[in-house]
Amino acid sequence: MDNLKIPTHVAVIMDGNGRWAKAKGLPRKMGHVQGGKNVEDMLYICDELGIKYFTVYAFSTENWKRSEDEVSALMTLLRSYLSSGFKKAAKNNVRIRIIGDKTGLATDIQDLIRDLEEDSKNNTGLQFQIAINYGSRDEIKRMMQRTAEKIKNGELEPSDIDERYISDNLDTKDIPDPDLLIRTSGEQRISNFLLWQIAYSEFYFASCHWPDFGKEELIKAIEEYNKRDRRFGDAK
Ligand code: IPE
Ligand code: IPE
Ligand code: MG
Repeated sequence: MDNLKIPTHVAVIMDGNGRWAKAKGLPRKMGHVQGGKNVEDMLYICDELGIKYFTVYAFSTENWKRSEDEVSALMTLLRSYLSSGFKKAAKNNVRIRIIGDKTGLATDIQDLIRDLEEDSKNNTGLQFQIAINYGSRDEIKRMMQRTAEKIKNGELEPSDIDERYISDNLDTKDIPDPDLLIRTSGEQRISNFLLWQIAYSEFYFASCHWPDFGKEELIKAIEEYNKRDRRFGDAK
């Protein structure tokens, strides 16, 4: 543990809240309640381990397809974290940024997000990103639309578009690409998360459900990451 190289940026697809609840005979929303608590705990653990950037996938652009009941339970939980749990983190020097299409969220949630981002913008501790109403294809589509507008208005030349421009115009602007991407619950797919940004990330799939993914599991993922021979297309 002592000699572990800690990844700068850890991103997590927090999957399996529903299955966690089902296994306990509880309604799915109880899985989300427990999953939310785990996010809060994980902020302290990440900070303690020296992780600088932590990004979680909380609600995808595809998750609107779930039942009205489940979507509304998730939005209620979100409101509660944005107005208290994450506010507490912001007081502990955590900087919070939301990635995703904020305009698709209820206006009171948009207001909570604006306040939280504004209040924490100078915090220098853990840099915490929450993906809400986030889909990588949607993020790229929005970036393309803004870019097309700029070209139409004569503010940008097609030749100005390079990889740097694209990275700087996605929702993750100013955030380094993830070093380690974790998905819980055994599923081995990306589900429209950070497609551009994970070009050279290392992947780790944990079999446990998100509410059970604690410090020990995170250390296991980092230990596994330490065994990887990271390459970026170069010959070593
Ligand atoms: C992840 O858990 C949380 C969200 C997608 C909001 P799920 O709700 O996907 O749980 P499973 O995958 O159905 O078990
Ligand atoms: C991915 O999980 C989205 C989040 C964790 C928020 P899903 O459970 O929605 O993804 P699929 O449907 O299994 O691909
Ligand atoms: Mg799932």
